[in-house]
Formats: sequence, structure tokens, C-alpha cells
Amino acid sequence: MGRKNIAWILCLLLVLLGVAETTDPWTDFTENIPGKLVFYQMEGNTAYIRDTGELASDVQTETVFELFEHHNYSTADFTYTWDLGNGKVINGTEPVVRYHYPQSGNYTLCLKVGVNKTTFAPSIAGFYSTNVQVLDAIKEIRLKDPSYYGVSQNTTLAFYVDGSPPMWVCWRFLPNCMEDVTGGCTLTMLYENTLRLNHNFTEAGVHCLDVSIRNDISQLQSSFSLYVKGNHTYLVYILSSAAVFVTTFIAAIACSRRRRRRSQIAASGNGVFLERRDTEPLLVQYGTQYSS
Ligand SMILES: *[C@@H]1O[C@H](CO)[C@@H](O)[C@H](O)[C@H]1NC(C)=O
Ligand SMILES: *[C@@H]1O[C@H](CO)[C@@H](O)[C@H](O)[C@H]1NC(C)=O
Ligand SMILES: *[C@@H]1O[C@H](CO)[C@@H](O)[C@H](O)[C@H]1NC(C)=O
Ligand SMILES: *[C@@H]1O[C@H](CO)[C@@H](O)[C@H](O)[C@H]1NC(C)=O
Ligand SMILES: *[C@@H]1O[C@H](CO)[C@@H](O)[C@H](O)[C@H]1NC(C)=O
Ligand SMILES: *[C@@H]1O[C@H](CO)[C@@H](O)[C@H](O)[C@H]1NC(C)=O
Repeated sequence: MGRKNIAWILCLLLVLLGVAETTDPWTDFTENIPGKLVFYQMEGNTAYIRDTGELASDVQTETVFELFEHHNYSTADFTYTWDLGNGKVINGTEPVVRYHYPQSGNYTLCLKVGVNKTTFAPSIAGFYSTNVQVLDAIKEIRLKDPSYYGVSQNTTLAFYVDGSPPMWVCWRFLPNCMEDVTGGCTLTMLYENTLRLNHNFTEAGVHCLDVSIRNDISQLQSSFSLYVKGNHTYLVYILSSAAVFVTTFIAAIACSRRRRRRSQIAASGNGVFLERRDTEPLLVQYGTQYSS
């Protein structure tokens, strides 16, 4: 028995515990009330169809029960009991429910559709259940470490990524922030919220890093400017007096704060909600362009 069947039976039991039904629960409900559940999520003025069973957390969601053409029930009264699977139950007489899942996780959404007897049809009930996986959209890519970049050394950059894994990361370094005409990037899978990239900067100066991250429901692109110090400058800093060191340190903090704020603005402006899961890969791997 698959997970879906177990979920359905659980759902049925839950609904039956709350409602004393006269109809036989084991009749094939799809023959009684043929229909299906369709999920929509709003982002701004756009509604996205979510047909992969994946929803974004904290986003206004609408689930519609679409009754297949059924002449006998055109004048019947319907009742809908929506069990969101997170302890929330919503009753109504409309085939639509509006809600949102505040937290990511896996839920089983159950719907009981009841129809009162009409001249042409008996009183019946239909039970529907569907498993939904609620994911957090990617909201932020924040550079955590390091605060210092030197030339010709193995530097590990660490980022905090706010969003539900697994995530697909596509990144590229742009030396001197020169636009890359090939448009290639390196593809990495991320199974946690910390992203680590190793890089050997071969030149001092300001370099750019473009990071694009997506999960099944969202995508975020962020650009970072990194100031890489040359070896000679580094030596002078080390040999200088404590007083000079303190001022340099403060300047460096102010600088990195400003840089961080800029990257966040860029980040929020580029967030995209994905309409549905693509079967084709969005990002193509070209290998590291500037590793030596
Ligand atoms: C179904 O019929 C019963 C009894 O007549 C009534 O109390 C109930 O409100 C009806 N339900 C709907 C959804 O009309
Ligand atoms: C929803 O309806 C069920 C029976 O149909 C009832 O047991 C439950 O208390 C109702 N819940 C609310 C919030 O009205
Ligand atoms: C939810 O279900 C998916 C697929 O069945 C699974 O990969 C994932 O680990 C589950 N998530 C949680 C939080 O249980
Ligand atoms: C619809 O009503 C007709 C009688 O008007 C009946 O013959 C038919 O079986 C009904 N269909 C269903 C699915 O109940
Ligand atoms: C970084 O690259 C430079 C130039 O290619 C090379 O000389 C140096 O050994 C590299 N450093 C590391 C840590 O790989
Ligand atoms: C750079 O450092 C990381 C972690 O310290 C290591 O995994 C990686 O192999 C190193 N790369 C090179 C080219 O030395």
C-alpha cells in the first residue's frame, strides 16, 4: 500500500470521527462526486498553479475543488470540510478555501464534500486527500565569511541561504566585475542552508560573484562585490602599529556592512517565484571559469 493510500485512509478516519455519515464510506467516492483539487498561490498580483504537490510557506494559498460536469447535482447544496492537516479545519459552502501554511513541512490535506439529496440523486459524500510538501521560498543569500580576501590563496566563502533545501546553486566569479559573455556558471547541489565556495583570487582589486539559487518553488539571484587585497598591501597591514590596525579594522567593518546592504537590495529585487517544476535543467554547467 502506497503512502497515498495510507494518507487517504487516515484522512477518511479523521473525517469520519468528526462527522456521523449515513453514506457508505467505502464506496468509490470518485464515482459519487467526481472532481479534483487544484492549488493556487498568489505572489503580488500573479496566481501560480501548484500542480506538483509543493507549496510555498507563508504565502496566500487557494485550493479549489473542481467538480466535473455532473448534471444531477447542478441544483444541489454542497458542504465542504477542509482539514489542512496542521490542526486547522475550515467549513464552508463554497468549493474554494483560502489559507496559508505558516511553516514548512509535509501535510496531508483532506476534503470532505457533502451533497444533499436532490430529486435526481441521493445524499452522498466524497473524500479527497492529497499530500502537500510546504517549502520555504529562498528569501536571502547572506555572505558570512570571510571578511578578508587575499590574492593567490585558497579562500573559502561561506553563505547563509534562507530557504528550504534541496537547492540548486549556480555561481560564477567575475574578475574585476567584467561581464562574462559566455554566461556559464558552476552548478552545485545544496542540501543544507550553508553554501561554501572555494576560490583562488589571482588578482587584487574588486571582483564580483554572481550566485543564483533555486528550489522547487522559488529562485533568488544575488551579486556580491569582493575587495581582494594584494600580498604587498597585506604585509604592510601586518607590520603596521596597533593604532593603524584598529582604524583599518573599523573601516573594513563599515565597508562590509555597506556591501552587505547592497547585496540584500539586489537580492530582494531579483526574487522570482517559479510557476512549476521544470523538467529541463534551468542552469547549465560550464565548469569554473576563473579558477587559475
Ligand atoms: C441538507 O439538508 C438538511 C436537512 O434538510 C439541512 O439541515 C441542511 O442544511 C442541508 N445542507 C445544505 C448544505 O443545504
Ligand atoms: C465543521 O463541520 C464539522 C461537521 O461537518 C463539525 O464537526 C466541526 O465542528 C465544524 N467546524 C467548524 C470550525 O465549524
Ligand atoms: C517531505 O516529503 C519529501 C518527499 O516525500 C521528503 O523528501 C522530505 O524529507 C519530507 N520532509 C519532511 C520535513 O519530512
Ligand atoms: C442522474 O439522474 C438520472 C435520472 O434523472 C439517473 O438515471 C442517473 O443514474 C443519475 N446519475 C447519477 C450518476 O446519479
Ligand atoms: C592560486 O593561483 C596561483 C596562480 O595560478 C598559484 O600560484 C597559487 O599556488 C594558487 N594558490 C592555491 C592555494 O591554490
Ligand atoms: C581549498 O580548501 C578547501 C577546504 O579547506 C579544500 O577542500 C580544497 O580542496 C582546497 N582547494 C585547493 C585548490 O587547495
